[in-house]
Amino acid sequence: MERENVLIPQADLDRQREFEEKIRRLFAAREAHPAACVDTFGCQQNVADGQKLMGMLEASGFTLTQDPKEADLVLLNTCAIREHAEDRVFGNLGALTHTKKENPEQVICLCGCMAQEPRVSERIKKSYPHVDLVFGPQALWKFPELLWQVYETKKRVFSVQDEHGTIAEGIPVVREKGVKAWVSIMYGCNNFCSYCIVPYVRGRERSRDPQAVLAEVRQLVEAGYKDITLLGQNVNSYGNDLDLGYHFPDLLADIDQIPGEYLIRFMSSHPKDATPRLFDVMAASSHVAKQLHLPFQSGNDRVLKEMNRRYTRQQYLDLVNYAKRVMPGLVLTSDVIIGFPGETEEEAMDTVSLVEEVGFDALFTFIYSPRPGTKAAVMPDPATRAEKQKWFDKLLEVQNNMSAKLHAAYVGKTVRVLVDGESDDPEYPLTSRTEGNRLVRLKGDKALIGQFADVAVTGSNTWALYGEAI
Ligand code: 5AD
Ligand code: SF4
Repeated sequence: MERENVLIPQADLDRQREFEEKIRRLFAAREAHPAACVDTFGCQQNVADGQKLMGMLEASGFTLTQDPKEADLVLLNTCAIREHAEDRVFGNLGALTHTKKENPEQVICLCGCMAQEPRVSERIKKSYPHVDLVFGPQALWKFPELLWQVYETKKRVFSVQDEHGTIAEGIPVVREKGVKAWVSIMYGCNNFCSYCIVPYVRGRERSRDPQAVLAEVRQLVEAGYKDITLLGQNVNSYGNDLDLGYHFPDLLADIDQIPGEYLIRFMSSHPKDATPRLFDVMAASSHVAKQLHLPFQSGNDRVLKEMNRRYTRQQYLDLVNYAKRVMPGLVLTSDVIIGFPGETEEEAMDTVSLVEEVGFDALFTFIYSPRPGTKAAVMPDPATRAEKQKWFDKLLEVQNNMSAKLHAAYVGKTVRVLVDGESDDPEYPLTSRTEGNRLVRLKGDKALIGQFADVAVTGSNTWALYGEAI
């Protein structure tokens, strides 16, 4: 794909700002102050997309609300990764028939990964007539234009063509208040893991220009953000499509040169593309958190092959051993799928044994969920749900014991944290994160929010540490 076909031309982006202005004027003429409710499901990439959607809505004159009942526009930014995520969205859409009955002018929009699935958009067309606008992740940048079409034509708009995938710079963003910010460094995925829907809905891999990423991070640091996460489905293949001989470790090293007091994290990493050089750069850097989210999915080689993961159990172990060697104290987390089609109990227990062998700080564990259109969805899947649940419970038990032990080892020590917000626990009113992103509930003054602090750890459980600011 030629680069000029990937980058959306400036003139097209400028046009979107004009559509924002048109929507603004439309409401000004009605002397109305419209409110929008954006509900985001799923991964951090979606959260980052949600912030751009809110940015475009604010630029179009909307204020933001959490309550769909008082909203003139409701936007569901959806996730397609598992069936459960989709079921929740259909449930929410059902409930919106009532809000729309109360307020027939309400505009209901659906975007994100689900919207890009033909199966879903057909179902919306047929069975959810109250939905006014449906657009996939590829069309996010032209949301203002699509929304204007809805207001102008009073017809339903569907923009779900299977496009090659583009990059749009300079979309307005509504950032979370506080210390955390997300920066997408690339979009799409080329890996086609056999269980995964993402490559079908988010298109092929394309990387933002290094200068654009560096400028955004610099701006965020200057604005006071202290915990910045670089996002991509597989950040380790950053730059492969740019032909600059510039790769993810180069980007990390360059970001690290930006002066200031802040931490850089990134996710996700694919083990097949993670290199010792990446870990060397992390180890040598002063801003990159010594934390790694490295999904292994399965500890069995046959299952890994069927998943199309392109590494073996041993290769994974070698990789994490190297990373731990160059970064003592590295906080390591991972994603795991139990019950892939055809997986046996013995194979599932290979996953459990890998968890025991590596000692992860936290795991994100999932029972396999068939996604129509993927290769795995048509593979024979003889194990019952009850069997899979039993394997899953075993995995959780092992991991929970391990997390509890890891956390207990912190009691009596001092850790450096970034205080990021308030909690609803009156005894520990603050929440904070260690460099490794471990949750620490904190006694201390609200004035600490947004600051780095040293904390004496006084207690722990499976999920968190407890402590007091020194
Ligand atoms: N079923 C269950 N889990 C899945 N994941 C991706 N696709 C599926 C699926 N079909 C998990 C993987 C991935 C994480 C984001 O979601 O573990 O790393
Ligand atoms: Fe899905 Fe695999 Fe791509 Fe991750 S790397 S988004 S699991 S296909």
